[in-house]
Amino acid sequence: TMKGTEVLERKNAEALLGGGEKRIDSQHSKGKLTARERVELLMDEGSFEEIGKFVTHRAKDFGLDKEHYLGDGVITGYGTVAGRLTYVFAQDFTVFGGSLSETHAEKIIKIMDMAMKNGAPVVGLNDSGGARIQEGVVSLAGYADIFYKNTLASGVIPQISAVMGPCAGGAVYSPAITDFIMMVENTSYMFVTGPNVVKTVTHEEVTSEELGGAMTHATKSGVTHFVAANEVQCIEYLKKLLSYIPQNCEDEAPHLPYEITDETRPVLDDIIPENPNQPYDIREVIEEIADAGSFFEVHKYFAENIVVGFARLAGRSIGIVANQPAVLAGVLDINASQKAARFVRFCDSFNIPLLVLEDVPGFLPGTDQEWNAIITNGAKLLYAFCEATVPRITVITRKAYGGAYDVMNSKHIGADMNYAWPTAEIAVMGASGAAEIIFKKEIAEADDPAAKLQEKVEEYTQKFANPYRAAQRGYVDEVIYPAQTREKLIRAFAMLENKVDVLPKKKHGNIPL
Ligand code: COA
Repeated sequence: TMKGTEVLERKNAEALLGGGEKRIDSQHSKGKLTARERVELLMDEGSFEEIGKFVTHRAKDFGLDKEHYLGDGVITGYGTVAGRLTYVFAQDFTVFGGSLSETHAEKIIKIMDMAMKNGAPVVGLNDSGGARIQEGVVSLAGYADIFYKNTLASGVIPQISAVMGPCAGGAVYSPAITDFIMMVENTSYMFVTGPNVVKTVTHEEVTSEELGGAMTHATKSGVTHFVAANEVQCIEYLKKLLSYIPQNCEDEAPHLPYEITDETRPVLDDIIPENPNQPYDIREVIEEIADAGSFFEVHKYFAENIVVGFARLAGRSIGIVANQPAVLAGVLDINASQKAARFVRFCDSFNIPLLVLEDVPGFLPGTDQEWNAIITNGAKLLYAFCEATVPRITVITRKAYGGAYDVMNSKHIGADMNYAWPTAEIAVMGASGAAEIIFKKEIAEADDPAAKLQEKVEEYTQKFANPYRAAQRGYVDEVIYPAQTREKLIRAFAMLENKVDVLPKKKHGNIPL
């Protein structure tokens, strides 16, 4: 009937306005988009279907019984991103500051349940003043329900969080459990306790941006994996990230069509400097090996001594973990181990094959590292590789020393194919250190100790600073010309396409945390 349609029209119009024009203007004046605008940007045009548009809260205290907004501060629903089903929730800062009420939480959980049943990713667009203060513990319960659901969904469907405004207190723990976090420079921040509390407790004076802005979390804490210059870029990153990953843990990432032609890359033959102590940028190697322009770096500004990210090889998604000789000579330290371990586990959860490019002189020495548990943290990366059942291939470009050789996806811990370039040096330690230890007496007793040391260093280098000892043992499957790397990898990953590897039955392992 006419009347019924009128009511619906009025309600639809009301829902679109969220907290009203004035608050929408205020949101825009901060350089932020509204929740609806963000959803529209993310989803394929016209594909978004909203769920729970007319939901309102049930709270009665502090005047809330007189203040209701349709949707209750979060827009939830599904649509497609590049044609693939995706669920989304977008917190609406114009409604009670996007704060989380009991019903707001219920809406989020509803789409998470649907996403798990139907095997599709959930993208959360966070912009919230935290727990709805007027609701008290009911709101905290809502958070906990979400954390619990995030945990159950972990490894089942991809979960991605974009933080596009405040995200403070308990609210941080939902993004933290999800697979990836993106933040926007200058308009988003995350912290457990804000600048005022920090000042009271520790007497530190710090702004929100310094304490928990995008660059802080990208460089210092590693909490965020991506930093966007603005919201539009952030949404571009979300779409790009989704393009490399499958819909769920039983699915495979999308394959792009690719026709094999001449895959030799002669540039790689000259990429390793003459002097083995001279750095080079591993990203240049990645660019040559991966499909043109396909490398999408994750955690770019954190622990730069290791580089991780997604790429395509002949149209197929792979995850790359690469030591970066251009930063700290590519050593493994606490942050690098954590960064890489988390990435390896994501890829393994979601059937994305792993490529490791190895040029590692060892672990970073020092009290700072030892006292902050490089032992436990290095073990994370070791464990993550050991446990990964996806196809895994390693290419040793240069150094592979000590325990780090074992850790970096060695044959011994389950890698499927291990290649080495002729420039590879695979040994317990660098030649000068080694010579000093094993020939200590001989050198001390020599007429010319310096010459003796030099002689012994050369002897050790001749014997061990090459890939052939490892190849003799079969620890390296093949020593290859660098220019052939891409071709070899395309073939080997195709060979491993139907790999089945089963771990011993258990409840779950106990990764050193
Ligand atoms: N619960 C209920 N309402 C909230 C809220 C919350 N947690 N956080 C913000 N709001 C409301 C504000 O009352 C305001 O309402 P109005 O539009 O009717 O005036 C609106 O959201 C916008 O908040 P405002 O403070 O004006 O925005 P801001 O951009 O200046 O500041 C915050 C944003 C998040 C820094 C600030 O709102 C804040 O500190 N909120 C409380 C954070 C918190 O302690 N949360 C609870 C613990 S998790």
